[in-house]
Amino acid sequence: MKRIKIFDTTLRDGEQSPGASMTPDEKVEMALMLEALGVDLIEAGFPVSSPAQFEGVKKVSQAVVKPTVVALARCVESDIDAAGEALKNIKNRRIHVFIATSPIHRKYKLRMEKEEILKRIENYINYAKKYFSDIEFSPEDASRTELPFLVEVVKTAVKAGATTINIPDTVGYSLPEEFANIIKTIKEGVPGIENVDISVHCHNDLGLALINSIYAVKNGANQVEVTLNGIGERAGNCALEEFVMASKVRRDLLDFGTNINPEFIYPASRLLVHITGIIPSRNKPIIGENVFLHESGIHQDGVLKMRETYEIMKPEDIGRPSESLVLGRHSGRHAIKKKLESYSVKLDEEKFQRVFERFLELADKKKEVFDDDLISIVSDVLREPINGYRLMHFHVHTGNTLLPTATVKLEFKDDEFEAAETGNGPIDAIFKAIDRITGLKTKLYEYIIQAVGSGKNAQGEVKLTLEIEGQFSSGRGISTDIVEASAIAYINAINKHLIIKNGLLR
Ligand code: KIV
Ligand code: ZN
Repeated sequence: MKRIKIFDTTLRDGEQSPGASMTPDEKVEMALMLEALGVDLIEAGFPVSSPAQFEGVKKVSQAVVKPTVVALARCVESDIDAAGEALKNIKNRRIHVFIATSPIHRKYKLRMEKEEILKRIENYINYAKKYFSDIEFSPEDASRTELPFLVEVVKTAVKAGATTINIPDTVGYSLPEEFANIIKTIKEGVPGIENVDISVHCHNDLGLALINSIYAVKNGANQVEVTLNGIGERAGNCALEEFVMASKVRRDLLDFGTNINPEFIYPASRLLVHITGIIPSRNKPIIGENVFLHESGIHQDGVLKMRETYEIMKPEDIGRPSESLVLGRHSGRHAIKKKLESYSVKLDEEKFQRVFERFLELADKKKEVFDDDLISIVSDVLREPINGYRLMHFHVHTGNTLLPTATVKLEFKDDEFEAAETGNGPIDAIFKAIDRITGLKTKLYEYIIQAVGSGKNAQGEVKLTLEIEGQFSSGRGISTDIVEASAIAYINAINKHLIIKNGLLR
């Protein structure tokens, strides 16, 4: 069986989804989970683009042991220098250099002729050798590039010393047979290609990212670029979980596999949701809420008689507890530790103590604590900023015959600030009061509220995305009180913005 390398770009292309930006520490948290999942490579960011990107790549490379850490760079000296610097002193490191090659990108974006592009590829792959021996090259918008020119481009890159050639379907435009033909033509028409890896990077604009990746592998690719939950630019990238499970479930027809430990798929997917606040649709393949639910009587009857009548995989295959074990106030430290271990969450003693205290507080408020409650507490605790804004207390007055008013008290770097505001509702008033304290101009781009767990005493979880100074920043908050959950989510989004912008909080 051919083994396909999994190149995970959740922390780079995935992070380019609006509202998915992650702080360097969140990237580390996610990268450790990706390592447990067994990915071969982690693309951790685009170091030249901001100090936070640089820091994220550096921190991830220092945190993981097994996967190769990859940094993205354009064919520009300063980009390559930044990638070299971010991954300095790391054994398993790769640079990923790219330049667009399609007619539309050449004419309107780059304003470059073909010859100039070929020259740049040669020059900058050579320049990258100053820092790296593992060099991946991507002709951006490859699938809309004239095929003979694409072959020229790949020949130039291989001759210059690229060790992996990645073919992106940048705008998710290709059809499976067409994309397969591109891979086949490169495989057959480029001298020396047998000594380099062929990778593919498929976007999902037409919903074809998975099938295009599969067709590419059938025609010679041995690396696929994927993201968890399929996040990424626009409609996203080929989803890791889809590629892995398709190759596993249809092993009868697909003669390839990966080194992924599928039982970490669900925990990794949930962690990403907690970090980014991006909730996959309920019917999202593999990890969506509905995937193992059966509504119609005929289906339920079939599943009860023989599960395989309507299920082609089991929840346990992807590490999804079929029944989440209910914890309560009498669950001891040991039970909590065991539960966290089953999600491969590793915490130092101080953080664990904090999680345990929060668990006890919650168990006092609601009798049953579910897995999702616990995982939410963990991601809250991991994200508690040391010097960021912290909610001390709030009061709201609301009703259908009075103007909703909120008073909020926040702590920031040992100082306390209080403000009061009115609004269209209690949540609007509280957000305005927070804005008054921080002095930031924010726009609420997205606000989602949902119950964690079930029943009347479920917790409220708020995920929201703010636009602050032209950047999207997301935050989440969880509480048995939805106004408090909203305030916490709002403050978290502000803290995240400040961390990414200034790196000042931790
Ligand atoms: O979609 C794309 O073309 C990319 C490249 C940088 C590989 O993300
Ligand atoms: Zn991409």
